Amino acid sequence: MTTVVCPGSFDPFTLGHLDVLRRTRAMFDDVVVGVAKNAGKSGLLDPEVRAGLARAALAADPATADVRVALVPGLLVDFCRDIGAVAVVKGLRGGADFDSEAPMALMNRHLTGLETVFVVGDPAYAHIASSLVKDVARYGGRIEDLVPAGVAEAVRAAFA
Ligand code: PNS
Repeated sequence: MTTVVCPGSFDPFTLGHLDVLRRTRAMFDDVVVGVAKNAGKSGLLDPEVRAGLARAALAADPATADVRVALVPGLLVDFCRDIGAVAVVKGLRGGADFDSEAPMALMNRHLTGLETVFVVGDPAYAHIASSLVKDVARYGGRIEDLVPAGVAEAVRAAFA
């Protein structure tokens, strides 16, 4: 059994995240989504709500139905060590994502030797970012076709 962790803020979980999780689960037999705190971002949804939305979206898709979701309480490397994960998996939409992900991957490897595997997402979702989803929703725009079922309602409720 090879366990990997897909970490992120998931604020909120999007169709882009789901695409990367589908690809990851096709390669690894035990996948854990780690809902973590990004010190550089102020959150909209509570971590427990983010985790619940991710869990529901993954459970509804046969390709990801056995993917687990957990909260990462501190450092990602400690969480990965505690659950026996051999690597982190992160999705890339393009070069800008790599530029922001590479320092984190190098820091995690520096800390404990934890490796990071990058998965290139479907270009059909390249425009979807949680921050943009929130921005569209904040001003009343339609986000139903950017996020899995149930997520749009939670985001709108958070802005109400
Ligand atoms: O979805 P994001 O915001 O790009 O994900 C970044 C995240 C949450 C994975 C990263 O900030 C993280 O790993 N946070 C947990 C705390 C930690 O380990 N920080 C050091 C990262 S090198």
